[in-house]
Amino acid sequence: MEAMVLSGLALAMALPSMALENGLARTPPMGWMSWERFRCNVDCQADPLNCISEQLFFEMADRLAEDGWRELGYEYINIDDCWSAKQRDAAGQLVPDPKRFPSGIKALADYVHARGLKLGIYGDLGIFTCGGYPGTMLENVKQDAQTFAAWGVDMLKLDGCYSSAEEQAKGYPEMARALNATGRPIVYSCSWPAYQGGLPPKVNYTILAEICNLWRNYDDIQDSWDSVLSIVDWFFTNQDVLQPAAGPGHWNDPDMLIIGNFGLSYEQSRSQMALWTVMAAPLLMSTDLRTISPSAKEILQNRLMIQINQDPLGIQGRRIVKEKSRIEVFLRPLSRAASTLVFFSRRTDMPFRYTTSLAKLHFPEDAVYEVQDVYVGKIIGALRTADNFSVVINPSGVVMWYLRPMELPLQPWHVARQQAPGEGFHPALL
Ligand code: GLA
Repeated sequence: MEAMVLSGLALAMALPSMALENGLARTPPMGWMSWERFRCNVDCQADPLNCISEQLFFEMADRLAEDGWRELGYEYINIDDCWSAKQRDAAGQLVPDPKRFPSGIKALADYVHARGLKLGIYGDLGIFTCGGYPGTMLENVKQDAQTFAAWGVDMLKLDGCYSSAEEQAKGYPEMARALNATGRPIVYSCSWPAYQGGLPPKVNYTILAEICNLWRNYDDIQDSWDSVLSIVDWFFTNQDVLQPAAGPGHWNDPDMLIIGNFGLSYEQSRSQMALWTVMAAPLLMSTDLRTISPSAKEILQNRLMIQINQDPLGIQGRRIVKEKSRIEVFLRPLSRAASTLVFFSRRTDMPFRYTTSLAKLHFPEDAVYEVQDVYVGKIIGALRTADNFSVVINPSGVVMWYLRPMELPLQPWHVARQQAPGEGFHPALL
């Protein structure tokens, strides 16, 4: 008996404490978030359809539930800044703006839950939120966690405006403990690293993975291709630091998807989706789901894309090639020895024919793959590692492949197709 207890203890001690132990966000969270598209528009008189009000969230919840999003995994509907009244109530509790959220957050949570969705809310560790609403000071952490849990909230984004590095170092772990203590499963998104430059030594990704389910590392996304590119550049320039930090339960967050808005072309929208998927990023759309175009919807609802993004291994991908021709290649290893390749063009002239081979991309010798084009859907037979192939990549666009190993040695099609993919292969990472 004693021996068993001891060995259990020894085991617990031997296991590295890798992640926040709330069992949540085993794959990157998916859903919708108000900020990038709807900002802090609180003028419901001038703009009743687009202001931050319960109506907006009711309507987006309806769209998520009725337009095929929920079934694909887009389940969180997240309130961002500017939802609260300008003052806490007499008991010191955060309260929603009474004009814009007359039913209260609990009623909104009930509405969302009744549609099989989950509700996220926003807070800020500091005196004020970034938008100037009441913040969560250290002494409010417990109370606010309890308030959110009592309302039935399922995710908290805790921003970091108006607090010092010392307050953040205390407050972010404290909120993790306070959320856990409520007993309600609440996904915890921390903006902490974004306020500390996103890199060691100021940012400790081991600690982050222990307390947060996801974290904003870098600047806010804006509705432009420049903004997407600056985020992509930062994340892949720093991939040696960031890539190992991600895994089931703990993710890097390059910020919202802006697909469906005004700043991205069709090709650029496909690129954001593909690159976010390579990064194992949360898929939090910030767009008007009431008026989204069919082409933007098709990109966001691509099944194979979502399957890749949600791969259970949860390994973040990396940039493996940067060509002088301004073509870049990204690789994300997936479960069952599959993988995804993204060929990305930074060119601004014309579609570019890029020729390479899996051997050049450091795939194992003598392997054979079934390749599926993630956007076109076409299956490209049996590709051997040594075979040269070409892809044609549009300016600021991508070609994205899903690769599944076939049995070795190469078998006739009908035989190979029936065999389970070989296990245990991971393409070498640069
Ligand atoms: C910060 C965050 C954004 C958004 C705004 C709200 O800038 O990084 O994502 O939440 O605050 O004011």
